[in-house]
Amino acid sequence: MPVVAVIGAQWGDEGKGKIVDVIAERASMVVRYSGGSNAGHTVINSIGTFKMHLIPSGIFHSDVTCIISNGVVLDPDVILQEIDELKSKGVPVSHLFISDRAHLIMPYHILLDGLEEEARGKDAIGTTKKGIGPAYMDKVGRSGIRAGDLLDKKNFKERLAMILKEKNRLLTKLYDVKPLDLDEVYKRYCDYGDKLAPFLNETDVMIAEAIEQKKNVLLEGAQGALLDIDFGTYPFVTSSSTIAGGACAGLGLSPLKLDAVIGVFKAYCTRVGGGPMPTELLDEVGEKIRVHAKERGATTGRPRRCGWFDAVVGRFSVRINGFTSIAITRLDILSILPSIKVCTSYKLDGKTIKNPPSSVAKLARCEPIFEELPGWGDDITGIRRLRDLPAEARSYVKRIEELLNCPASIVSVGERREQTIMVKEPF
Ligand code: IMO
Ligand code: MG
Repeated sequence: MPVVAVIGAQWGDEGKGKIVDVIAERASMVVRYSGGSNAGHTVINSIGTFKMHLIPSGIFHSDVTCIISNGVVLDPDVILQEIDELKSKGVPVSHLFISDRAHLIMPYHILLDGLEEEARGKDAIGTTKKGIGPAYMDKVGRSGIRAGDLLDKKNFKERLAMILKEKNRLLTKLYDVKPLDLDEVYKRYCDYGDKLAPFLNETDVMIAEAIEQKKNVLLEGAQGALLDIDFGTYPFVTSSSTIAGGACAGLGLSPLKLDAVIGVFKAYCTRVGGGPMPTELLDEVGEKIRVHAKERGATTGRPRRCGWFDAVVGRFSVRINGFTSIAITRLDILSILPSIKVCTSYKLDGKTIKNPPSSVAKLARCEPIFEELPGWGDDITGIRRLRDLPAEARSYVKRIEELLNCPASIVSVGERREQTIMVKEPF
C-alpha cells in the first residue's frame, strides 16, 4: 500500500505529528498538503523536542524526501525560522522541497486576521492569527501570491503593487490602521525568495515519480475533520479542506492513488478556539486531564478545552474521510482516571441522534449520551503489544473500534517514538 494519508479526525492536535514521525521511518516521502503555520506538531526524539508548524515531521529521517505541496499556505518567515532551527541542531534539510504553487502568507494577511477577529467581537472564531483565513480568501479570490512568483522579481513587484494598493485601502479606510509600505514588503519578500529558491520545485511531478516507482508515500494532514471548511463546525473552522479528499487537490494526486487513510483520534477530545464541543468537561475532571496531559496549543499556547471521547463526531469523521484504520493517541493519559465516559449518541429536542447536525446552534444544544467504562489505573507507557495492555484498556480500545466501526492500527501510549503499539503496519 504505497500511498497512505494520516488525517486529524477530531478538532486538531490529535497527535498527528508523532504518528507521522513513527510512520515516516517506513516511508520514502512525506507530504504536507494543507493548512499553514496554524498547525503545531510537537515531535520528541533523540535529538530534542521540536515544535514544528510547517515542515513535515518526516524531516528527522534524512533519507525521507519531505514536501510542502501546493495546498499549503506558506509563511516564509516561519519556514525559514524552522529551517534555521533544524540546521542549528544538526538536522539536515537538503531533503526538503516546497511547491512553487504554494500560496504565500503576506504581512497583510496576518494583520487582517487579527483585525477581522477583533471586528467579530464576542463571535470571534478564536483563530491562530497566523493569516490563514485571509490567505486562503486571496487564493480563492485570485489575488494570491505564490512561492514561485518570488523568482521573477519584476513581475512580483507589479503584482504586489496592484494587490497592496487594494489591501492598503482596506487597512486604512475600513480598519483605520497604517498602510503597508510597498518597498519594504517587496524587499523583505525578495530576500525570502532568494532563501527559499533552493527548496522550490514542481512537487506534483516529484510525487507522481515516487508513486510510479512504487515508493512509500505518506501524506501528512493538518488540523482535523471537525475544523474542515465544509464539514467542520462552521464558522468555527479553519479555511482549508482538512479531510482526506483535500489531500488530492492539495498535492495533485488522483483519488484512485490513495491506498489507505489513517484517522488519528485522541483517546479523549480537545479543542482550541471557539465553537461547540458537545462532550466538553467544564469540571475538575476536564482540568485534571488538561493539567496532566499538558493540553496547551503548540502554536498559540492557549489552554485546550478537554472532554470525553465523542463517537458521534468520530463516526462522522470515519464516514467523510473513509478511514481504513484509526490511530488512537494518548491512551496513557486516561490511566489517571478511575472511570472513563464515551459519548455514543446525542439527544436533541427530545430525539436521539447519531449524526452531528450541520448547524452549530443545534450542535451546541445537543446533549451527549454517555456510556461509562472502567479505568485501569496502571502505567501503560512501557507496553508495546495490545495484548499486554490491562484488560480495561483493551476493552476501551475495542469499544472505540466498535463504535466507529473501524479497526485500530496504531495505539500510542506515550509521547516518544518508541512508545507506540503497532497493531498493523501502515505500508
Ligand atoms: P494541528 O495541525 C488545533 C483552530 C483554531 C481556530 C480555528 C481557525 O496542530 O492539529 P485558523 O487560524 O486556522 O484560521 O483558526 O481552527 N485550529 C487548530 N486547532 N490544531 C490545529 O492544527 C489548528 N489549526 C487551526 O484554534 O479554532
Ligand atoms: Mg496543534
